[in-house]
Amino acid sequence: LDNGVARTPPMGWNSWNTFGCNISESLIKQMADAMVSSGMRDAGYEYVVVDDCWMNSTRDSAGNLQANAQRFPSGMKALGDYLHGKGLKFGIYQAPLDKTCAQYFNSYPGATGAQGHEAQDARQFAAWGVDYLKYDWCSPSGTIDDQVRTFAKMRDALAATGRPILYSINSNSVHDKTGPRRNWGDIANIWRTTEDITNAWDTGQTNGYPMGIQNIVNVTVPLASYARPGAFNDPDMMEVGRGGMNDTEMRSHFALWAVMASPLIAGNDLRNMNAATQTILKNQNLIAINQDTLGLQATQISNDGTRRVLAKRLSNGDVAVALFNQSGATTTVSTTASAIGLTGNAFTLRDAWTNGLSTTAGAISASVPAHGTVVYRVSGGTPNPTPPATPTITATPTAT
Ligand code: GLA
Repeated sequence: LDNGVARTPPMGWNSWNTFGCNISESLIKQMADAMVSSGMRDAGYEYVVVDDCWMNSTRDSAGNLQANAQRFPSGMKALGDYLHGKGLKFGIYQAPLDKTCAQYFNSYPGATGAQGHEAQDARQFAAWGVDYLKYDWCSPSGTIDDQVRTFAKMRDALAATGRPILYSINSNSVHDKTGPRRNWGDIANIWRTTEDITNAWDTGQTNGYPMGIQNIVNVTVPLASYARPGAFNDPDMMEVGRGGMNDTEMRSHFALWAVMASPLIAGNDLRNMNAATQTILKNQNLIAINQDTLGLQATQISNDGTRRVLAKRLSNGDVAVALFNQSGATTTVSTTASAIGLTGNAFTLRDAWTNGLSTTAGAISASVPAHGTVVYRVSGGTPNPTPPATPTITATPTAT
């Protein structure tokens, strides 16, 4: 969506993965403080997104949304001011139909979705200083045309406020029929590609609830051609630092999100991060690859079921290559400079994890542990990029 924001994938933190509905003003402020004191802000993370359950169960007499007064006693404008005062940006959650997902599925009280109040809610968010709206379908019903019309309505309502607001949509909550198969770049800045992520490497799902890291990668890689500045596939908030995976898997998760030009939205408790988590989330080599101004998502070079190779072309002519071992045992994953679109016979490889440099005449390979991903930034060749493969699209209605 060409609304001036998300020219590179957004980076930030969201409350849902760790806290669910147990959120409050003081928690969000503590997380903002931790984002600064931990160095996450300086590493590039900027949005603090308050997910579901911030609302009162009813609107006021004028139809305005209200914050839950017990959880957010100072109100959302004050919270936005606090975040802005820390050099951060303010994200908030709403749903397009009558209920938010917690109201629909988790018996959180109320029915305060935006339906019929789109312009009013957009103006409210702008008045509170909101910089990012997560807008979440939350219903098993609705055709893709309903979704296109409904998501476009809020896109236009946000534009009418005049405030630049990053627009994040999710068409998938129990709605895997339509979600990942559309390029939503005409409607939103980022769009979820799957049902909800969970804190696990592989749940065996193809696209149902809940999705592990490997499962989300399988769905998102074929959508590479959709990514561009202002419009990115969103494979969901990260589970790095949440304990459900070993360190190799967490590194792999982050590396794959980085090369897929995915939003880097941390979902862990920033107040308690161990050294491994901090090293992963603040890896400057991978953040630079993710935030590259070309805004391209890595395309698949090869995948034999065990060894998967992805390559992301970068603005200075370098190519980032991910050597991903999908199996449960250490293996060597290989490709070549020419396979990733570079010509020449002398290349430098910088390992994104170790920062080590090596040279090659064209062979690129690494011994990769089970579920691991080695990423090299390959320099020195002449870019000769092959166009990304076109994914299979089964439904492409346009907005009216
Ligand atoms: C859906 C979304 C999640 C989260 C919850 C909140 O499941 O996909 O990311 O926002 O709703 O209820």
